[in-house]
Amino acid sequence: MPRPTFQFHIDDTRCTRCGLCVADCPMRVISQAAGEVPYVKPEKESQCIHCQHCLAICPSAALSIDGKRPEDSLPIEGLPDLEAMDRLVRSRRSIRRYKPEKVDPALVQRLLAALGNVPTGTNSQQLSFHLIDEPETMDRFRRAAYGALEKADQESRIPERFAVLRTAYQVFAKNGTDILFRGAPHMLVVSAPKNVATPHQDVALALATFDLLAQSAGLGTVWSGFALYAMETAPELKGLLGLEQGRPYYAMPFGYPAIRYARTVQRDGAAEVHRVVLG
Ligand SMILES: Cc1cc2nc3c(=O)[nH]c(=O)nc-3n(C[C@H](O)[C@H](O)[C@H](O)COP(=O)(O)O)c2cc1C
Repeated sequence: MPRPTFQFHIDDTRCTRCGLCVADCPMRVISQAAGEVPYVKPEKESQCIHCQHCLAICPSAALSIDGKRPEDSLPIEGLPDLEAMDRLVRSRRSIRRYKPEKVDPALVQRLLAALGNVPTGTNSQQLSFHLIDEPETMDRFRRAAYGALEKADQESRIPERFAVLRTAYQVFAKNGTDILFRGAPHMLVVSAPKNVATPHQDVALALATFDLLAQSAGLGTVWSGFALYAMETAPELKGLLGLEQGRPYYAMPFGYPAIRYARTVQRDGAAEVHRVVLG
């Protein structure tokens, strides 16, 4: 999304002059004279990164920025506690078997709307979502992907490091097993322009968040590195999605799971922890 036009408004009947917005602004854009209502000097406006911290912190709901009104924000309450979050993180699984049915579009829209709130480096907010929301479209894309891989193989264009793609199209042709997208009825591809501060991190974080949100809503997801291999090997597949060549991206097939896990896995301690001691 392009940066919004800067607008900063304080309702001086509500403002308590507490200065919290001034202190919390990460770019130090907001000024305040002693005991006065905060304001933004015109020459500072372009430094605003539109993070809306000023709107979020104002205890008296006096401040709106970029046309966003405090009464339209959610109150900070009813958050999942550590117990609930820990259980979600441990319980989410990569789903590799899906029901064919379409996911409720309202649910998908809700998840994507929430994703607009994930952090991006320098608050660039330049993510794009390419969504396959019709199972028939996903089937067409699936067939196009395997067809493109077979062609790429005939033309010796499958790199050795992506040799799994050869097996993938052969298995699909033999018995319809879909290694790339795991038979999912939908796919979300998140991308960001390569010239933003942290495109790869922004993409991964959005998908990681989608992954957790989706699983909390009863959906299954799977990160598909194989889909990325396929799209890098046959870039025409990116064209089919409408994805600009050269943009960092990642793909996540999703849908209603056809399976249900009975318990969590046990990978505590799988990552090495190096305790840093200085001095
Ligand atoms: C970046 C990334 C790419 C992945 N690519 C694939 C993939 O192409 N196909 C697949 O079936 N699983 C893929 N996975 C899933 C991992 O194999 C899986 O996360 C891991 O085995 C742990 O299982 P869990 O996700 O159920 O905890 C990928 C995971 C990540 C994080």
